[in-house]
Amino acid sequence: MIRNKIVVRLWIGIISMTVVLLFLSMIFQTRFLYSFYLNEEAKQLERDAQKIARYIGASKYNFSAPYSTVIRRVNDIIIVTNKDTRIEFVRGTDEYKHNNVFGTLFMKAIKEEGIVRERNLMIGNMDTLLVGVPIINRGTNVKNNNQMLNDEQNKQPQIIGAVYIATPLQKLETTNSAIRLQFLYILIGAIILASILSFILSNSFSKPLILINNAAKEIAKGNYNTTINLKSSEEIKVLGETMNNLAKQLSRVEKIKRDFIANVSHEIRTPLSYLQGYTEIMLDGLAETKEDEQKYLNIIMEESIRLKHMVDEILQLSQMEEGYIQLNINPFSMDTLLKRTIDKVYPIASKRNISIKYNNISDDMLVCLGDENRIKQVVINMLHNAIKHSYNYNNILINSYRQNDRIYVCIRDYGEGIPQEDIPFIFDRFYTVNKSKSEESSGLGLAIVKNIVSSHGSDITVNSTVGEGTEFCFWLPAYVEKSIV
Ligand SMILES: Nc1ncnc2c1ncn2[C@@H]1O[C@H](COP(=O)(O)OP(=O)(O)OP(=O)(O)O)[C@@H](O)[C@H]1O
Ligand SMILES: [Mg+2]
Repeated sequence: MIRNKIVVRLWIGIISMTVVLLFLSMIFQTRFLYSFYLNEEAKQLERDAQKIARYIGASKYNFSAPYSTVIRRVNDIIIVTNKDTRIEFVRGTDEYKHNNVFGTLFMKAIKEEGIVRERNLMIGNMDTLLVGVPIINRGTNVKNNNQMLNDEQNKQPQIIGAVYIATPLQKLETTNSAIRLQFLYILIGAIILASILSFILSNSFSKPLILINNAAKEIAKGNYNTTINLKSSEEIKVLGETMNNLAKQLSRVEKIKRDFIANVSHEIRTPLSYLQGYTEIMLDGLAETKEDEQKYLNIIMEESIRLKHMVDEILQLSQMEEGYIQLNINPFSMDTLLKRTIDKVYPIASKRNISIKYNNISDDMLVCLGDENRIKQVVINMLHNAIKHSYNYNNILINSYRQNDRIYVCIRDYGEGIPQEDIPFIFDRFYTVNKSKSEESSGLGLAIVKNIVSSHGSDITVNSTVGEGTEFCFWLPAYVEKSIV
């Protein structure tokens, strides 16, 4: 299908190009070359005519020049007239005889311009090119004294007649039709060549396209392992590689999606089974005391909250990953943000007698560029984690400082720490280190944090030792107020 279309298009393309070029070249040849030939021919005729004219001119009034030695071509018509336009000599035509009148108008032109050229003059029903030149008296063997006196008085070259040579134009016309015939042959040759060429070329064009097309169909069917091996030109090769990459990307996205759904369903099952279990106990009236009833209702409440929290996070994460959330980048003070966030989490920390100490090392407003609300979310997440994994009566330290063009924030706790082998995975979705302890955790917090920080073009680092504690650091570009010049 593809190949046939390409063959036809290439064929049409090559043929139309050839036809246009041939046509232009034909116009050029017939118009330009024809007038060129005509000009050359006229020059030759003029040279011949001049020779004869010189002969006659030198031998004054003797019109019997040695014509046959001068004229090359037997077909040429020669007519020599005296100054009264009477024919003195004629050769090559029966139309004019000795003593006939010829070229009255030409003689006038010759006297004025010294030469005459005439195309399309019919002589003996033949189209001819005619050239006429004057015969100028240069004779020295003067018979008549008066004549000489006259000459000297006038001091002007005296025109005593004219030589005309005409040549049939048939030959040039024949050349023209020969050119046309030649073009016809070239055209036929070009059509044959174009057919062969377009067939060969289209094969090399269409083969990779067919391969790519088939691969695209396979990918569309969900067969992401499809690869294309191309040996053709660079551009098409690049297209093939792009397709291969596309397949890889799609396969990766597909895997992420599958994992995500599997994880979500798995994570949601646990709170749901709690909800179901305790609701059933309540409905069956199996709660023995009022206290038990209260306890079960509390569990149901907590699990519902956890479920809601998890669904909110999942929603946010998936929106962020699909690029739906636009960052609202503005300058803001990190100092203010940290103080406010600490105030916000203070009740949770103080419940377990954990104190949060904030240290602004650079001691300024630490104005940076970013989405303030999302950065607040980052800090809250990190603080929640720090509190969750701290021991009672621990301290949590927050350091913030300016270094070069960056504002750094580090949150340190002296809690349980993270095992070295888990560190590479803590930013993955649903990853929690200690599953049994994870009633309050869905493992999404750090995935969201990482996502927000990297969408700011920044990075987050972690440093942790089991039993000693953990430190998370991230940075944002410092805001530099542009000075108005
Ligand atoms: N400060 C910390 N100290 C020790 N372990 C931590 C700390 N912060 C994170 N972790 C470990 O990394 C895991 C992933 O953290 P993350 O914030 O992504 O999830 P989470 O806190 O378990 O759940 P949530 O989605 O509610 O935040 C945690 O389960 C925990 O095991
Ligand atoms: Mg967390």
